[in-house]
Formats: sequence, structure tokens, C-alpha cells
Amino acid sequence: MAVQYWKNKGDHRRSKFVSFHHAYHGDTMGAMSLSDPENGMHHVFTNYMPKQYIMDIPHSEYSFSEFETMLEGIHKTVAGVIIEPLVQCAGGMRFHSPDILAEIHRICKQYGLLFIADEIATGFGRTGMRFACEEAGISPDMMCLGKALTGGTMTLAATLTNTEIFETFLSDRLEHALMHGPTFMANPLACASANASLDLFETEPRLAQIEAIETQLHTELSPLRKRANVKDVRVKGAIGVVELHDSTFETMQRLRKDFVDRGIWLRPYAGLVYTMPPYTITSDELTTLTDAIHHCVTHLDHG
Ligand SMILES: Cc1ncc(COP(=O)(O)O)c(C=O)c1O
Repeated sequence: MAVQYWKNKGDHRRSKFVSFHHAYHGDTMGAMSLSDPENGMHHVFTNYMPKQYIMDIPHSEYSFSEFETMLEGIHKTVAGVIIEPLVQCAGGMRFHSPDILAEIHRICKQYGLLFIADEIATGFGRTGMRFACEEAGISPDMMCLGKALTGGTMTLAATLTNTEIFETFLSDRLEHALMHGPTFMANPLACASANASLDLFETEPRLAQIEAIETQLHTELSPLRKRANVKDVRVKGAIGVVELHDSTFETMQRLRKDFVDRGIWLRPYAGLVYTMPPYTITSDELTTLTDAIHHCVTHLDHG
């Protein structure tokens, strides 16, 4: 959509994207090409995928000026910058601050690029506000939604654009139309689930539930910070992460088994034990999860 936006405007040079190391945007061809090529899981397709500009998320004055210099050189071939705002999930549950996000957005706009927020994982309250971009006070040109759009009950995704992008596709010329769509696009059952979930989002105290989960995750996971095998504990909205020093596959398998033995389904990977519980989880249920994390992480030390 971003590439065609420029074509519809008569600019045919822009077919590249800027994305970031540790990003994960999905498993279709374009999305794979935007995900981290080294730390991700798409090595097998390296030669098959289009090449993109994949950069570090800038975090200091120096790295921001490097980021700007890079964009200065390449921006005329770039359709947009895509980022998972505030939390890069599958690529390592890595957090960056709203200030960093706002600055990336500012520089992106300075070069006239589309700013694309992939809120598939962060959207609908996961990071604490309705959308992660809101915390940075920015409004993306395009936003990708999925997962919680249906409350996680059915598969459905949506790509939102600002009015300007929408209008470049609004035309009687067939070549301006977005000729993209899978068989089950706008599937009525999925849309009904989304509408029901969105209604619940408005009528039930979702943001308060998320705040309560955040507080509880902080309280119950933070003590793990003092364990020798724990590298970091971080919490953002309804996301709790315990990062271990040991990231071997064997250890992850052992943890997974320990969790299952305790009747818990968590999926540790790459040294990360994390939970992104449903917002309707009760306080007792959440304690069951954090207790299991405590037990299994401590048990690793002793095993
Ligand atoms: C940030 C982000 N973008 C995209 C995707 C891919 O979504 P889907 O599997 O619905 O294509 C995911 C899935 O984990 C994700 O976390």
C-alpha cells in the first residue's frame, strides 16, 4: 500500500523500506523482508527476499545523527519507515522510550517518508494506552492492526491510513486501486468478532485492567531481578518479561516442560520468559502465572 501510494502520486522510485534490527513484522514475503535478517527466523529465505534498509533503533544523540545521515542519502528511494512502537515483541521483547519513538517519527516526517506503525502486537492497550503511538504523542500515516482486533478470537487484520493516503487510491482508474486481498478478506465472522470485541473495549474497563496487570506484574516479577541467572526484568502495560542469561534451546525446552508440568502454558524463547496475558485475567490467575515463573526460574538455578 505504501509503495503504491507513491506510484499513484507519480513517484516511481520508492520501493524500499527502512525497518529496524530485532523487528518482526510477519511471515509473508514483504513482511519477512522487513524483519531482522540476522536475529530473526527467516535465514532460509535470505536470497529470495527483497533487500531493505535495516537499521539500529537510534537511542543517543550520535545514533540519531547517524540515522538522519542515512536517511538523507537514501530517502528518495524509500516509501516508508516501519516500526513496532515502544516494544519489539517477537524479536526479543525489547522496549524503547516514547521519546525515541517520537524522534524517529519527527525525522521520518522531515524527509517526507510515510511512518508506518506496526501495532499488531502493541495495539488495543497492550503497552498501557490504547495504542503505543499515543504515548509518544504521534499519529502514524499507516497503522497495522491484528491480534487483539478480535480479542484474539479469530484471525483478522486491518491496515489503517490517514486521509491523504486513502484519497490517492480513491479513483475511477483501475490502476489506482489496491488490487490486494486474500480469500477471507473482511470475513464476516471475523468482522463480527472484532465488532463485539471493540464494543467490549468501550464498555468494560480495559485500560484500568491493563494498569492493574502492570502494577501486579511489577510487584510480582521485580524480586526476580536479584537472582544470579536473571539478566533483566521489564514490564510495560500488560507485558511482563524475565530475561535470563542462559538463552540456550535446551534451557528453553526445559523451562517449557517445567511450566507445562505445573499446568502453565508459557512459551520461553531466546532466554526470554514472558507473559502477555488476556486483559480479563483475574488477579489470582495472574499470580498463578508469576508464581510459576518464580518457581521454574529458581528451579533452573538449582538444577
Ligand atoms: C508486531 C507484529 N507484526 C506482525 C505480526 C504478524 O502477524 P500475522 O501472523 O497475523 O501475520 C506479528 C505476529 O506475531 C507481530 O507481533
